[in-house]
Amino acid sequence: MSETNSAKIVIAPNGPYLVSGALPVTLETIVPNDTGNSWEWQTGRAIEAGERYALCRCGASDKKPFCDGTHARNGFDGTETASRAPFAEQAVSIDGPGMVLQDADALCGFARFCDAGDTIWKSIERADEAGVRELVIREATHCPSGRLVLRDAPSGTAYEPDFAPSIGLVEDPAKNCSGPLYVRGGVAVYSADGSTYEARNRVTLCRCGKSSNKPFCDGSHVEAAFVDGLGG
Ligand code: FES
Repeated sequence: MSETNSAKIVIAPNGPYLVSGALPVTLETIVPNDTGNSWEWQTGRAIEAGERYALCRCGASDKKPFCDGTHARNGFDGTETASRAPFAEQAVSIDGPGMVLQDADALCGFARFCDAGDTIWKSIERADEAGVRELVIREATHCPSGRLVLRDAPSGTAYEPDFAPSIGLVEDPAKNCSGPLYVRGGVAVYSADGSTYEARNRVTLCRCGKSSNKPFCDGSHVEAAFVDGLGG
C-alpha cells in the first residue's frame, strides 16, 4: 500500500463523496478472458476533476461522475450501514499450502475476478500446484473491493498491488453496467458522522445509490442496471 497521503473522501449526509487532494479519476473496465471470467483491468480515459470535487453517490446525477445536487430533490437515503470493524475482524481465514486467504464477504462488489478456474476458494487448497499459485494471487489482487486478501504463510505478508492514491470508475461490459468507485492506495474515507473507515489499499464505494452496505458497494448496481454513460 502506498504511504499515507493527504487525499481524502468525506461522505456528505445523504449526499455526495467530497473528494480532496487532487485524486486522479480514470475509467477502469473489467475485461473477461476467453472463458468469460473477469480477468484484467483496462485503464481508460482520465476524467478531469481538479483538486476538490464532489462525486455522485445517489446514482441519479445528470453530470456523472460528479454530483449535480439531484440527491437533494430525489430523497436519497445515504445512511451508512456498513460495519466499522477493521477488515481483519470481519474476515474469515481459509488456509492453503503456503498461503492464507482472508475473506470478508460483506464487502463483495461482484467484480467476479475470484471465479476463474475452480474459484479462489477451491484453488487456495491447491496453491502449491504449478499455475494454481499464480491464479490465486491474481484473483485476490484483482479484487477491487478488498473483500479478498491473500497472505503468505507463515510470514503473514499480504500480496498487494502497489497503487498510487486514485479513484477508478468501474465499467462492467459483461453485465452491461457501470460499477462502484474503485478507491486505491490507502485513501482515508470519512463517514458523515466524522469517524473514519479503515484506510485500505483497495475499497469499492457505492455510486449507484442502491447498496445495502453503504458506503461500500454490495453488487446491487448489476440488478439496478446502473449506467454512468461514460464507458462508451
Ligand atoms: S455501485 Fe455497487 S451497489 Fe452501488
